Amino acid sequence: MPLQIIVGAQWGDEGKGRIVDLLSEKADLVARYNGGDNAGHTVTAGGQTFKLHLIPSGVIHPHTLAIMGNGMVINPATLLQEMTTLREANVDLSAQRLRISYAAHLITPGDRALDLAQEQARGSGQIGTTGRGIGPAYTDKAARLGLRMQDMLDPNAFMGKLGAHVENVNRQLRGLYQAEPIDPTAVVEEYTGYAEILMPFISDTALLVDQALVDGYTVLAEGAQGTLLDLDHGTYPFVTSSTSTAPGALTGLGLGIRPVDRVIGVTKAFQTRVGAGPFPTEVLGADAERLRGTGANPWDEFGTTTGRPRRVGWLDGVLLRYAVRINGLTELALTKLDILSGLSRVRICTSYRAKEVRFTDLPLGPADLSPFQAEYEDLPGWQADLSKARQWSDLPGEAQEYVQRIAALSGIPVRLVSVGPEREQVVPVEE
Ligand code: IMP
Repeated sequence: MPLQIIVGAQWGDEGKGRIVDLLSEKADLVARYNGGDNAGHTVTAGGQTFKLHLIPSGVIHPHTLAIMGNGMVINPATLLQEMTTLREANVDLSAQRLRISYAAHLITPGDRALDLAQEQARGSGQIGTTGRGIGPAYTDKAARLGLRMQDMLDPNAFMGKLGAHVENVNRQLRGLYQAEPIDPTAVVEEYTGYAEILMPFISDTALLVDQALVDGYTVLAEGAQGTLLDLDHGTYPFVTSSTSTAPGALTGLGLGIRPVDRVIGVTKAFQTRVGAGPFPTEVLGADAERLRGTGANPWDEFGTTTGRPRRVGWLDGVLLRYAVRINGLTELALTKLDILSGLSRVRICTSYRAKEVRFTDLPLGPADLSPFQAEYEDLPGWQADLSKARQWSDLPGEAQEYVQRIAALSGIPVRLVSVGPEREQVVPVEE
């Protein structure tokens, strides 16, 4: 039963899309299990760049079956847009290739309006959400008020539920946030149109994935966001509203406890974060501009979904060890090693210090990182351009040393290093 899970080991944006793309070559099913169109997964293949927000990145490979699991929250407007863009790039997106769980929840314009109103009301305590309605949709799910894909299958009942949902949203918009209400008639009309198009894609994906595993097919579960944005285990409250860690693949796809072949943690060779919240290894000024890039390249550190400049810093070994534990990672894929070329030294945080006490593990999880100062180990940098490296021996000794230090610090092997956005720009690691 070859189940593999790919998960972000940091605050999202680790470059999971490209690693999923690589591994989907050998996968039969590719499955997203959490989040919604807050995610942005970039895949570059054959000179074409795909930016995916909802559909699993592995769909680019024509032999795969793409699954959108019950743990997701889906904005049908964005989904249909994404389907159109992919079809224009000759990706087959028939109902034979894309299956959506009946139990996935829907995001509506009401959820997006509430997300923005709630964020504004937080004032200086803003989370920096993507504004995509993620929090309100999961709130409705937990409050047992949510709309599910399944509701689209009964158009009359769906219209009634949508109307009630918009009324509920409007009560909050008017009463709590003094915000403009939204038009229920327009939403009902828009969403009944979407229902007609999406109906054929809705199925019991949990049954489908289970059957595939029983039959010996390889399933690649694709996590969105990252470990530190997980609702329970992330830097709460600066988190998203879903289970982005690896165990979420089981609940988010409707699978029981079972052996998992590989749990692959994707981490950048440095650290980035979008939105607010503590960031112990953050760097500012010229060093930050160097790590972030100018925005001229597609791989520079600007949000795929929002275009916001990302905060940047040195790799945080304390948080990486935490990610290994919380996800049960079996290996790491290290992305963007090429970006560190040209630095005289590379820094890696090996411990934290607070009030003269040193910590190599987090005493109370990552929720409040503000008391900690990062303690670093400096390693020699390298000058060579890595973008043409394809084998371990192509990497300069200093780059190899950096990769080996990350493996030693995290306690699991680094299996793969990426040195550019193209499919072939990867280096298998030799131990
Ligand atoms: P939300 O998921 O839109 O509610 O945003 C909550 C937090 O998660 C904010 O700090 C966002 O910037 C962050 N976030 C959500 N999705 C992603 C992602 O795919 N990559 C990086 N950060 C994300």
